[in-house]
Amino acid sequence: MAEKIILAYSGGLDTSVACKWLQEERGYDVHCLTIDLGNLNDLESAKKRGTEAGALSVNVIDAKEDFLNYFVFPAMQANALYQGQYPLATALGRPLIAKLLVDKARELNATSVAHGCTGKGNDQVRLDVAINTLAPDLNIVGTARENEMSRDAAIDYAKKHGISIKQTLESPYSTDENLWGRSVECGELEDPWEEPPSDVWLWTAEPEAAPDKPAILEIGFENGIPVSLDGEKMGAVELVQNLSNLGGQHGIGRVDMVEDRLVGIKSREVYEAPAATILITAHKSLEQLTLSRSQIRMKEQIAQEYADLIYNGLWYSGHHRDLAAYTQSSQRDVTGQVRVKLWKGVLTILGKQAERSLYSKELATYGDDDQFDQKAAQGFIKLHGLSVQVQAHRQLLNNNDDPLYLASPEKTE
Ligand code: ARG
Repeated sequence: MAEKIILAYSGGLDTSVACKWLQEERGYDVHCLTIDLGNLNDLESAKKRGTEAGALSVNVIDAKEDFLNYFVFPAMQANALYQGQYPLATALGRPLIAKLLVDKARELNATSVAHGCTGKGNDQVRLDVAINTLAPDLNIVGTARENEMSRDAAIDYAKKHGISIKQTLESPYSTDENLWGRSVECGELEDPWEEPPSDVWLWTAEPEAAPDKPAILEIGFENGIPVSLDGEKMGAVELVQNLSNLGGQHGIGRVDMVEDRLVGIKSREVYEAPAATILITAHKSLEQLTLSRSQIRMKEQIAQEYADLIYNGLWYSGHHRDLAAYTQSSQRDVTGQVRVKLWKGVLTILGKQAERSLYSKELATYGDDDQFDQKAAQGFIKLHGLSVQVQAHRQLLNNNDDPLYLASPEKTE
C-alpha cells in the first residue's frame, strides 16, 4: 500500500501539478487539503482540479474565524509590522496552515505532508519549522523545491495530465491572499526603480480615482480586539471583510517595499492590506489614550520582536508565548472607540475615546479649569536636570573641541 501524503492545496497551477507529481514521481496516495483563510473565490473549480490531478480526496477547511482570533488579532494587538510596513498577512497564515496539515495527517494516518513553496522564499521556512515543531515524525516534501519545474514546464505537465489550468494562468505575479491582506511579488516588480504596474492592485482603488467624498467610520475595540463598526456589533470575519472593502474603495492600505527575506535576499514586494492598515492605525491611536508612557515604549519594542518572529516562522516558540503574554496583559484597558476618515489613499484618525482613558482634560488644559500645579514644575525640573548639571560642570563645559557647542566665548579665546 502506498504511503499517504497530505498536500497543502490552493487549487492553482503549481499545487495541482504538485499533486500529480507526488503520485507519478514519488508514488504517494495524495490527499489535498485546502485551507480557506478568506483567500479563495472559486472553491468548486479548485476541488475539480484537485480530482483531475488525481487526489484521492480534496478537503476544504474554513479557518477564517480561527485565523483572525488566534493569529491576526494577537498580532494586531502587538501592532506588528515587518520592517515597519508589512502587516504580515501571508506570514500569519502559515503556522495555522501547518497546524491543520498536521491535524489532517494524524486523522488519515499519513506519514508525510507536502507544500508547493519555492526554495527561495520565507513560506517554506515557516511551514517546515512549524511542521517539524508540531510533528517531528512527519516527512515534508517541498514539491517546488524538489522538482524545480519552470512555469512553462509546469504548464506542459498539467496539459499532459489533463489538468485544467486556464483560470490559474492569469496573473504574471506570484500572489497570496487572505483576509488580512494580499501579497504580490515577481514579474515587473523585480525592478525597484519601476513603479508597480497598475495590474498589481486588485483590492485597492488608485488613490486619485477614489471617491471625492471621504468615508468616516467608527471602530469599537474591547481589550484591543475590534468588535464593532459604526456602533454595530460585528463578528471578526464580517468586520475585517467590511474594512477591507471600504478601505480598498478609498485606496487605503497599499504598501510597496524592498524587504529582507529570512533567506538573505532583498526582495521587492507589494501588499494590499486595507483592513490591517486601518485596524493597526486605529488600535495604536487608542493605545495612546489607554497605555502609560512605559507601556507604549515596551510595546514598541515588542512590536518589532513580534513582527520578526512571525516573519521568520517562529510562531510556535517560547519567545512568542512570552511576548504574547505581555501583549495580552497590556490590552486590559484598551477599550473604546476610534473615528477614522478614509479619503483618496489617506487614512486619518479624527477622534478617539476610551472608557478608562488616561487622558485628563483638567491636567492638559490651558483653560480656567486647569488643575495642574505649575509651581510644582520648578522643583521637578531641578531634580530632573540635576545629574546633567553636575556632569556638565565637572566634565563637559569649556572643552574646546566640544561637538555639543558648550564652550562659552570668553574661554575659547
Ligand atoms: N514576502 C511576503 C512574506 O514573506 C509574502 C510572500 C508571498 N507569498 C507568495 N507565495 N507569493 O510573507
